[in-house]
Amino acid sequence: MKKYNVVLVGGGSIRNPEMMATLVRYKEKFPIGRFVLYDIDQKRQEIMAQYGQILFREYYPEMDEFIWTDDPDVAFADIDFALMQIRSGNMEMREKDEKIPLKHGLVGQETCGAGGFAYGLRSIPEVIEIITKIRELSPEAWIINYSNPAAIVAEATRRVFPDDYKILNICDMPIAIMERYAEMLGCSRHDFEPRYFGLNHYGWFTHVYDKKTGEDLAPRIKQCLLDGYTFGLGNEEHTLDASWIETYNTMADILRDFPEYLPNTYLKYYLYPNRVVAHSDPNHTRYDEIMEGKYPRVHKKLNEIIEANAVRGTKYDLENTTSVHASYIFELATSILNNENEIFLIIVKNNGTIPNLDPDAMVEVACRVGINGPEPLSMEPIGTFYKGMIESQHAYERLAVDGLFEKDKGKLLQALTLNRTISDADRARAVLDDLIEANKGYWGADFCA
Ligand code: G6P
Ligand code: MN
Repeated sequence: MKKYNVVLVGGGSIRNPEMMATLVRYKEKFPIGRFVLYDIDQKRQEIMAQYGQILFREYYPEMDEFIWTDDPDVAFADIDFALMQIRSGNMEMREKDEKIPLKHGLVGQETCGAGGFAYGLRSIPEVIEIITKIRELSPEAWIINYSNPAAIVAEATRRVFPDDYKILNICDMPIAIMERYAEMLGCSRHDFEPRYFGLNHYGWFTHVYDKKTGEDLAPRIKQCLLDGYTFGLGNEEHTLDASWIETYNTMADILRDFPEYLPNTYLKYYLYPNRVVAHSDPNHTRYDEIMEGKYPRVHKKLNEIIEANAVRGTKYDLENTTSVHASYIFELATSILNNENEIFLIIVKNNGTIPNLDPDAMVEVACRVGINGPEPLSMEPIGTFYKGMIESQHAYERLAVDGLFEKDKGKLLQALTLNRTISDADRARAVLDDLIEANKGYWGADFCA
């Protein structure tokens, strides 16, 4: 059987232990020849590399080569798959993305609103540079990109690589939500076939079909939520922290106001920005929660593994190192390789899938995915409320990318003014000036503040 060469771009990411453990779990369906961790910061990925060495020694002797490098020429040569999750500016900039908007009384979130905008403008130049390099060295590689904020990153990749069907932009939020529906109904998310529409972090489930019977389970899920079902702590890194649990539980509030479809969690920032700001502490955001919780948790675990020089037989063994995020990415990769044509939610060019929306918009919809890439499942026209919401957000996304590419501060101001979490030109201008200052050297151009 052919072996595949895979590079993980963003090798220092905190999500990589699960990614590597899942790589092992998929070795039958997706055998690896060379596996590469690539990061611009070699020191940051050292701990991930040490973990990988132990894990692969114990569980993956068939792997030909495992390397970690900060050299793109080494990392991207002769690659079949690039799995990409970069965080431009690292956690230091995440803190600013969250705290600067809050100083202006605006939502402070890493992917939504003014913070997501700043992050997007940092990500785009780096994502484009990396994909350009991958294409130079591995023109046929599949690129599975989940670098955030995926909506405007996808808008930029569509423009720069318009015909490249092997770049797939994805997000794990809907699948994480489905995992929680499965918990609620006492089944597995693999029992579901979703139908979904929107932009990234800005969409709705129209149906959640039972894969075997075809029954639409969405009405039952809605009823449970409306009857007061509450999500508790989950068993994944993602669901161990209070702020995420609260976000999951806001889905019921959204549903009470807008009962037609099951909402994505991120809609809370757009639908209730004032409530979100009122409940935020400008000095203690998700950034701080991560630095106090997830980071030390993951590092402690890795240090214990490195100390013991073993994964097998320890409490950190393979079956305990898993995540929806990682499983989803490998399910997608194997659906491509084995032409399984399973359904995934992918961010693709609309092209009439949602008939009454701009054909060029990058929409997140259900697609069958096989060896020739994603094939979106067409939908009925969407209602006025959803169309209005999506079109204004899409205009914001386009203007943000226009402003970056054309080095046009006026368009950046237009973008932020349109963003529902802001909606006020005075506040948009004030926060933009602060973001320009904080992002000096990142946006690929100097915008005079
Ligand atoms: C979800 C989203 C991702 C986002 C992540 C943030 O998985 O789909 O796009 O990066 O949440 O989680 P964090 O634990 O970093 O707040
Ligand atoms: Mn996401």
